[in-house]
Amino acid sequence: MSDLYAVFGNPIAHSKSPSIHAAFAAATGQDLRYEARLAPVDGFAASVREFVTHGGKGANVTVPFKEEAFRLSGKLSERAARAGAVNTLSFRDGEIVGDNTDGAGLVRDITHNLAYPLAGKRILLLGAGGAARGVIAPLLAEAPAALFIANRTADKAQALAEAFADLAAVDAGNFAKIAGQRFDVAINATSASLSGQALPLPADLFAPDSLAYDMMYGQGDTPFLGQARQQGAGRLADGLGMLVEQAAEAFFVWRGVRPATGPLLADLRRQLAG
Ligand code: ATR
Repeated sequence: MSDLYAVFGNPIAHSKSPSIHAAFAAATGQDLRYEARLAPVDGFAASVREFVTHGGKGANVTVPFKEEAFRLSGKLSERAARAGAVNTLSFRDGEIVGDNTDGAGLVRDITHNLAYPLAGKRILLLGAGGAARGVIAPLLAEAPAALFIANRTADKAQALAEAFADLAAVDAGNFAKIAGQRFDVAINATSASLSGQALPLPADLFAPDSLAYDMMYGQGDTPFLGQARQQGAGRLADGLGMLVEQAAEAFFVWRGVRPATGPLLADLRRQLAG
């Protein structure tokens, strides 16, 4: 019987993860099945335990369960411990092991797919929620010249900067605090694009050779990428590449095999363009 994997979320019907992992399995010759599982908002742990009972080998976790998956894990990878959230579970020897591949996915998309090295760059991270927290340590590991966390609620940005102060000096503040500063890379980790809202960004944030990256994706520019385009950012990227790369990293965690991502990403891009 094929090894069984799943993604748990709520909602989950539109998840691309099953087709991504099916493509990885076919390309690498790995014998596995991967399903989408809707967990009740108050029934995540029970859903996972039932899945394990039925032979599940591993699972991805998406909104709104990443923090709960963190708490459910008996063992955590270092990057999951830092992120405070888990998007990849492995079920081994009766134990639930939690990992987080989101930050690795983001960094790989930027440095490899977009060929934009982060070493020595000034990075602006917009947002201070779970999505932002999950990518800070992997970004700092690239040795940027600076990292500034800007958030609508300044206190939350400040708290995040302090939580990572042992890794590097991180600046933080509200959006007004970035006025007059220039960044090489601005990454949107807020959920504002989800509700179609623009961020109160100061003018002249983007230099002509800067990269604007939205962790969200959709057809056409997200509101953030629309703002960045208007301000003259030289390069724009949405989070489709991050989605594929975090999946590839999870596949590697489970199977020890790293699938190629280029052809699949190009396929998904074509589908998204309709
Ligand atoms: P996630 O897990 O996606 O990070 P979250 O933890 O709820 O979700 O965090 C949402 C982030 O988006 C926060 O940084 C939030 O800012 P606040 O901390 O001030 O609430 C940010 N956000 C959401 N909608 C926003 C908007 N319209 N303008 C600016 N920031 C917004």
